[in-house]
Amino acid sequence: MVLGQYFLSFVILILGATTAAPISLTYSYSSTKSSSSYFNAYSAFDSSFNSTWSIFWNYQEGSWSDSGCSYTSPVLWDSAVAGGAALFTNNPYYVGYITTQLSKYKNSATGGYSSTTAANTDIYTDDNAQTVWVFLDAYKLSGNDDYLNAAIGIMEFIQGQWYSEGGIRWSYNGEYLASISQTEGALAAVRLYEATGDEQWLSFSKQVINWAIDNLQDPSDHLFYDGLQINTGSINKGKLSYTVGTAISTFSYLYNIEKDENWLEQAELLIQASASGSGALYGSNGYWNNQLKYSYLLFQGLADFYNLVGINSAKGWQLSQNISSEINRQAQYVFDYYQDGTTGNYYDDISSAPPSVSSKYKEAFTTSSSSSSSSSSPGTCNGNYVPSLLTNSAAARIFYEAWRV
Ligand SMILES: *[C@@H]1O[C@H](CO)[C@@H](O)[C@H](O)[C@H]1NC(C)=O
Ligand SMILES: *[C@@H]1O[C@H](CO)[C@@H](O)[C@H](O)[C@H]1NC(C)=O
Repeated sequence: MVLGQYFLSFVILILGATTAAPISLTYSYSSTKSSSSYFNAYSAFDSSFNSTWSIFWNYQEGSWSDSGCSYTSPVLWDSAVAGGAALFTNNPYYVGYITTQLSKYKNSATGGYSSTTAANTDIYTDDNAQTVWVFLDAYKLSGNDDYLNAAIGIMEFIQGQWYSEGGIRWSYNGEYLASISQTEGALAAVRLYEATGDEQWLSFSKQVINWAIDNLQDPSDHLFYDGLQINTGSINKGKLSYTVGTAISTFSYLYNIEKDENWLEQAELLIQASASGSGALYGSNGYWNNQLKYSYLLFQGLADFYNLVGINSAKGWQLSQNISSEINRQAQYVFDYYQDGTTGNYYDDISSAPPSVSSKYKEAFTTSSSSSSSSSSPGTCNGNYVPSLLTNSAAARIFYEAWRV
């Protein structure tokens, strides 16, 4: 769903990214003139999530609100990102609230979850994959089979969106095969295999990710094109960082299960392309240039590699050490420069953030804003900047991933 809504604002054209073998990650930035001397990723997660919950959870509605101003029902994607952050607290308190709220999006006729609580057939497979992840986390945290069954039901819906000639459709019975639907769907399937031991999900995961490699991966830099239009056969060549992140997660789970070097090599190619300290995902200030609402999945992919591969292979271990320092460096940057010190709210763009955020940034960096500029300014509510559920949830998840490494 994110694709449709924000398409123009976040397509990151990573054209001409160079690759270099062997993989070598080196970080030597000194553009930060000041930074907090103390960064504790877990406490950043804890406080940013608590603040997200207190601002955006509406007990009366039993739902997240999209805006901290007046109640607005969020789209499924945003609810799943926020719900995931809630369950990362490992606190069973949130499980019932989160799963009940997600259930409001369920379209009974198809088994898919709609993009809005209208629960109609406006359904996107990438949103649904994220919803599978949340139900799996709810199952892990509670042991309640209802959540596992919900995850299975959604996965069956996603599987039903497999096009006869290959690829998961992006929208319900639609004509676009988005790479994010492949990478998120493959990740949901391999995680479902882990939870159930049911081999059909392992083979579906491999079928999907292999199709994406064969049909949507750019051989020159190994990143994934945005997607393929069935009716015309044309490929949209935009490249998105969250596709990279979820592909790294998928390869990491597959390697952990199968110990097949192919998965390790696939992951390494993407890590080199996305986290080596330079390349198209880096802004001129030496940090990732994506908005937080997309980059949290790159943090997640790298942290999955660290945890699933790093401990299983000598080669992966060395790369993991570099990943750990890179994730922490990037997370501290988010903590230091994208947070409003007074309210604790996070913003996606320096250009559209309150002056308290942008002035600190401009003092520290001579370069211009690292984020691609946003297509819209944040709204205001009673003269205050309105924070975003998605951005604040993404920030919490970034700190959580930094804590995992
Ligand atoms: C890790 O980073 C160091 C420099 O900090 C570099 O020399 C080394 O090659 C990197 N290792 C890997 C596996 O990328
Ligand atoms: C966040 O909320 C949890 C649960 O209510 C609480 O235990 C924790 O102390 C809170 N952390 C902060 C920083 O307020």
